Parts: sequence; structure tokens; C-alpha cells
Amino acid sequence: MIRPAVRRHLALLLAATALAGAATAHAADSPDEAMRAARARWAASKHGPMLERLIPPYLEPSGLPEPRSAGARLTARYCVQCHNLASPAMHHAEKWPAIVQRMLPRMEGRGNMGGLMHDLMAGVSAPTVEETATLVAYLQKHAQKKVDPADLPEAGRTRAWESYTQACAQCHALPDPRRHTRAAWPAVVARMERNMQWMNRVVGSRHEPREPQYRADEIVAYLQRHARR
Ligand code: HEC
Ligand code: HEC
Repeated sequence: MIRPAVRRHLALLLAATALAGAATAHAADSPDEAMRAARARWAASKHGPMLERLIPPYLEPSGLPEPRSAGARLTARYCVQCHNLASPAMHHAEKWPAIVQRMLPRMEGRGNMGGLMHDLMAGVSAPTVEETATLVAYLQKHAQKKVDPADLPEAGRTRAWESYTQACAQCHALPDPRRHTRAAWPAVVARMERNMQWMNRVVGSRHEPREPQYRADEIVAYLQRHARR
């Protein structure tokens, strides 16, 4: 998991140094080119591994929902310049505008390090106001549906509910168990475990004794009990 404090620290660090390779990259016209430029940036900086690990690597542009739509094309073009492609389903609709707003100054060379950022980010291109609106609308259309933990079945009564609500709301809002069928959930949870490993390596995986145990079996069983019929 990436805690807010760690995230802030990361952002500063990244703004200062990690994007040094950007100056050699060219504005990306295609997703492939953008991805190549991002890889060059990661390779050129000792903080590259951190950028690379912000978002897991499993999503290709062709795997985006409605891959031919304007929103998908803009996402694939602008959102792989620094890290892997983020899935629209990662966050719920209300959250996306603020996230995109946080990315914009970085793309415009006005990151938290001001002038320094400007030089470092010379090769990165930013969407226009219109493109940004299309991009945000697209992310929102295909966003995660969040639920209030208190409204879920078994709320406050079972350890399974507690495991689920704690383990699965660390990186995004808690998903609705009805998002997937009984048959589909095990694979989704298995992918989330890979996500956890991938994203954890950004901050190392120091064991926190006060953190609750992660109980995959219990979580899968809970999701299956309350899955979409
Ligand atoms: C110029 C570099 C850059 C570009 C381009 C960029 N990002 Fe990011 N992104 C970052 C950095 C640095 C972080 C880590 C700090 C943070 O979370 O703000 C990050 C983190 C993230 C995260 C993980 C944090 C979270 O809140 O879940 C998401 C999701 C994300 N970006 C989405 C996007 C999207 C969508 C786009 C395209 C509109 C985009 N990024 C374009 C630099 C960039
Ligand atoms: C380490 C961060 C992290 C944690 C913890 C996490 N997820 Fe995710 N989740 C992601 C990322 C990244 C995505 C977008 C990429 C993807 O779908 O793999 C995502 C997307 C999703 C989606 C939308 C995509 C889909 O296939 O429907 C669901 C549902 C989801 N997660 C469920 C869960 C569940 C259940 C848990 C708890 C077992 C969990 N997540 C824990 C990072 C995380």
C-alpha cells in the first residue's frame, strides 16, 4: 500500500530527480511511443523503478474499455508518459477529476519543484483543456463503483467483512461485491495480490505488527457470498 505520507515523499522525490530522463524524450504521438519514452525515463533515472512501480504493468492500451473512443486514445497517449497505464476502474468517479488535476501541472512542467520541474519535463506533453475534459469524462464513465462499508452485508458483524473492508480499500475505494460474479472474483483477488506486491515494492514491505493480517481466503469467500447473481 502507498500511504499518504509516503506518497507525498515520493512525489517530491520524483519531482526533483526521477524525471531527469524526460529531456531526451519527444512528445508522444502514439501510446507505443509514449510508453517507450516512459521506459527511457525510468532507465535514465535511479528513481525509475519508483515511477515504474506506481501503477502495475498489466494494462495495455488495447485493454482499455472502448479502446477506440477519444477518451481511451487520450488516456493511452498522455497517461503512460511517467508510469504504467492506470485502469479507469481503479478509482471511483468522484475521485478522478482531482487525480487528473494532480497530474496536469507535472505534464505542463509546473510540478512541485517549479523551474527545475520545467527543465526535467521538457519531453512530456500535456492535454489541452478540451482533451482533459474528454479524458476525465472517460475515466469517470468506466470508473469503479464505490460502496460505503457500513452498507455492506455482514457490516460490523464478521471478521470476513472486517478483512475485506480493511484490505481492499488501501489503494482505491472499497469495491461493490456485486461488481463481479462468484466465478470471477478469485481471479480478480489474485490480480490484486499481484498489484499489492508490485506497488508495495515502491516503499518496501516492512511488516507492520499493528496492521491486521491479510486473509485472502476469507475475502474471496466473502465476495463470493455477496457476488452478482
Ligand atoms: C509527468 C508525469 C506523469 C504523468 C504524465 C501522469 N502521471 Fe500519474 N503519477 C505521477 C506521479 C509522480 C505519481 C505519484 C504521486 C501521486 O500519486 O501524485 C502518479 C501517480 C498516479 C496514480 C496513483 C496514485 C493514485 O491516486 O491512485 C494514478 C492513478 C495516476 N497517476 C493516474 C494518472 C493519469 C490518469 C494520468 C493521465 C491523465 C497520469 N497519471 C499522468 C506522474 C505522472
Ligand atoms: C496495492 C493496491 C491495491 C490494493 C490493496 C487492492 N487493489 Fe484493487 N486495484 C488496484 C489497481 C492498481 C487497480 C487497477 C488495475 C487492475 O484492475 O488490476 C485495481 C482495480 C480494482 C478493481 C476494478 C477492476 C476490476 O477488475 O473490476 C476491483 C474490483 C478491485 N480492484 C478489487 C480489489 C479487491 C477485492 C481488493 C482486496 C483483495 C483490492 N482491490 C485491493 C490496486 C489495489
